[in-house]
Amino acid sequence: MSIRYNEKDQTITLLTRSAAYQMQIVPPGYLLHLYYGRRTEGDLSYLYLDHDCGFSPNPWERQDQRGWSLDTLPQEYAGSLGGDFRTPCLELSTDRGIRGADLRYAGHTVTAGKYALSGLPAAWAREGEAETLTVTLADAASGLQAELLYAVFEERDLICRALRLKNTGDQSIRLEKAASVCLDLPFGDWDWIHFSGRHTMERRPERRRLLEGLQGVGSLRGASGHQANPFVILCDREAGEEQGDCYGMMLLYSGSFLAQLEKDQMGAVRLTAGIQPELFSWRLEPGESFETPEALLCFSPEGLGGLSRRYHRFLRQNVCRGYWAERPRPVVLNSWEACYFDVDEERVLALARQAGDLGADVLVLDDGWFGNRRDDHRALGDWTPNPERFPHGLGWLARKVRELGPGFGLWLEPEMVSPDSALYRAHPDWALTVPGRPPTLGRNQLVLDLGREEVQNWIYDTVAGILRSADISYIKWDMNRELTDVYSRALPPDRQGECVHRYYRGLYSLMERLCRDFPRVLFEGCAGGGGRFDAGILAYFPQIWTSDNTDPVARLGIQEGTGYGYPLSAMAAHVSASPNHQTGRSTPLGTRAMAAMTGAFGYELDPGKLTETERQEIRRQIARWRELESLPRTGELYRLSRPEDPFAAWQLVSTDGGESLLTVCMRAVESNPRPLWLRLRGLRGEGRYRIEWQERAGCLEELSELPEREYAGSALLYAGLTLPPLRGDYPAMQLLLQRTDDNE
Ligand code: DGJ
Repeated sequence: MSIRYNEKDQTITLLTRSAAYQMQIVPPGYLLHLYYGRRTEGDLSYLYLDHDCGFSPNPWERQDQRGWSLDTLPQEYAGSLGGDFRTPCLELSTDRGIRGADLRYAGHTVTAGKYALSGLPAAWAREGEAETLTVTLADAASGLQAELLYAVFEERDLICRALRLKNTGDQSIRLEKAASVCLDLPFGDWDWIHFSGRHTMERRPERRRLLEGLQGVGSLRGASGHQANPFVILCDREAGEEQGDCYGMMLLYSGSFLAQLEKDQMGAVRLTAGIQPELFSWRLEPGESFETPEALLCFSPEGLGGLSRRYHRFLRQNVCRGYWAERPRPVVLNSWEACYFDVDEERVLALARQAGDLGADVLVLDDGWFGNRRDDHRALGDWTPNPERFPHGLGWLARKVRELGPGFGLWLEPEMVSPDSALYRAHPDWALTVPGRPPTLGRNQLVLDLGREEVQNWIYDTVAGILRSADISYIKWDMNRELTDVYSRALPPDRQGECVHRYYRGLYSLMERLCRDFPRVLFEGCAGGGGRFDAGILAYFPQIWTSDNTDPVARLGIQEGTGYGYPLSAMAAHVSASPNHQTGRSTPLGTRAMAAMTGAFGYELDPGKLTETERQEIRRQIARWRELESLPRTGELYRLSRPEDPFAAWQLVSTDGGESLLTVCMRAVESNPRPLWLRLRGLRGEGRYRIEWQERAGCLEELSELPEREYAGSALLYAGLTLPPLRGDYPAMQLLLQRTDDNE
């Protein structure tokens, strides 16, 4: 039993492999949060002493206890205006002018399995994998009932949380804020980490000391965004890769979000996260319900590396779903950086021939194939092949591509419309625009109002029609601008605050239907690269184009930052041309491949422009990838370098400890460099290992190979491995260790 209720102490404890999480019901019906941290037992309420710290009010029923205040006690889910002056989780007003919520305990249940959310992405559980706790709180004045939902995945060290709100009264309620999660930690000196960036430079970890007052990160873009990510970490100030206590909070949500941390007057910390309350409101009529997006809370006593590995496993096995979730992914050759908009049958077939010759699995036809799309000024929404460039249509093209070897994949941007398109001319009201105000353009395009059912149905029919018209095994689903002019022609004035969230509910419903009806199609998410790299997307599409930056050295940083929360199998990573189109940097082909092999591997260049020697190397890379792809897809990641190191060193270890891939890429080189001395991790100390193969790329001089002798696992773990100093233009090396004893 991972959920335990102690009637005498009135405590409810959630237990996972490494952690305990405890709450307590106290008179007059408040639900306090007592603890979340390393696994322990017993009633932990002794931690909280009544003491009057001044200017912290006490509830009416506790008027004789001036030291008892919601302002200083840790709460499980904080209402508002009830004497707790810290940042609230819930804000509302009713049509009788009642504001705030005084949430009191009204009961709880424990059930087997995981709770379900309707119409929102959510983790899933296999039989026996999870238990659900539902705690009901109620606010008498407004009639609002809040169900706090917890699904405990004991073996995974993970707790899913969400909130279900019901209007049980007779007034209309306007929700203005409804956080998915609240975590009050009364102790500790913390750092917090978030992942910031910009287009083509996404998700660099920003670690800073948690200071008194309110701090946080969020997005107002109508998408999770390139600039911020709905994932934050709170950790011991001393926490490193493999040591220290770390808490992760990740939202399964792709729209605007807000994660806030507040260190209060007593040094306690509150972490809340959910839908961005700015520009959000939701009207709840009597009898109606509202569910928040889900949050994944994870605790690791094994540092940041331990936290990443827990999230990776969970996202791969309990968030991703369907045919492709855990299967080897195809090696794609994508036309974008090879042709940009200049595509036609002849060029696509030439690429397909090359893809077949190199051994790639799928040729992806990117942007430029439909309507009169010769640049990014037009045609989004007109999803029929351009008759001059593709006179034989998609069915014929897909067949011809297949005859040459690879499968056929296609790019789409279904959420968008160009003002210069037949779709916009027919349905101008389907775009998000504010009446009487000229709309804002982004990449010359407008956003369709996905909250409207007729728009969802039109997109579904269009995409399904394309998928039925041709043998398409892969779809790249792009989104190249964010939401402005958030106004829906289909909503009444007092529901306009629902527009962005309804957009995402519409998007998720579309994704759900398409994945259900076309289960063998591999859908890849994309938003100008990594503008929507979040667990909400991963609940439907198992991989995402990580960044529009394909420079391998920049990608080291982007993939490293992304990998704090998200598994490598989710990060599409391609080898592109050199000099790189985004940075102008030249790098060796081998280094480009080694960097891309720490993701879902593919190519994004014109092989016709390469020499035969380079094509030969690519054939070898693809063959190598097929041997090692299970490691990035299912293995455990150990970061052996820090973001500030001049090299990136990543080690992947198979779950049974039998194989390990070490990749080292130099971000900068020095004269007379020191050898790289790396202590390996994750291997079995009692085992023996041999270097199965080793490769170098871009090295200035011939370096002698590491000895092909046997190494004790404990030697590699404790004494480490010395790699030769790497000099040259972005040199890199990769080696595979294989366990040689019988793996007992
Ligand atoms: C942005 C994507 O991230 C690129 O890979 C490419 O598909 C372009 N859009 C096409 O317009």
